[in-house]
Amino acid sequence: MMLIISPLYVNDAQLSSVTKFLLDEIKKKDIITVLHSQNVGYYMKKFCPLLGYDEKLCYTIGLLHDVGKIKVDDNILLKKDKLTSKEFKIMKKHVIYSAEILREHNYDKRIIEAVLYHHERFDGSGYLEGLKGKEIPELSRILAIIDSFDALSSFRLYREPVPYLEALTIIERDIEKYDRHYFRLFKNFIKNWIGK
Ligand SMILES: [Fe+2]
Repeated sequence: MMLIISPLYVNDAQLSSVTKFLLDEIKKKDIITVLHSQNVGYYMKKFCPLLGYDEKLCYTIGLLHDVGKIKVDDNILLKKDKLTSKEFKIMKKHVIYSAEILREHNYDKRIIEAVLYHHERFDGSGYLEGLKGKEIPELSRILAIIDSFDALSSFRLYREPVPYLEALTIIERDIEKYDRHYFRLFKNFIKNWIGK
């Protein structure tokens, strides 16, 4: 199936040429990842300033949180079936690759840190280091919620998108993995956004 993508970031004056270049690299590698990155960037940009964060900083974090996937082999990144444990181990490295790429391009330390820990989970069950609770940087805790929310509510090759409210319910079922405080705020934000 051919997906038509309108890369919203191309004409975005808020973004640096390096950020646009990296998004183009993601787009060349995997269209699903660049769409996901745009969505996560959008939610971060709209939600985080309500908590007092800088808009551009959070937008950039969302857009580039998975940039390291450009270094993951196509056979693994684009695999439609479940990954084997060996493949998943390689996939997990995308957070390290993301941080490396962002460091090479001199991105703000807060961006690199947020990206590096976005797969940590509040109950300590995530990766990279198995950090727990408030050991996980605040922006990573927020990004984890938004990342999961968009992964559920967007199109995937193997399933239909889950409606927004249902995506929130699914995350809530696993709430021990997320920061409850930020989840509650994000849930209200989404409900306001969709007018429910
Ligand atoms: Fe990721």
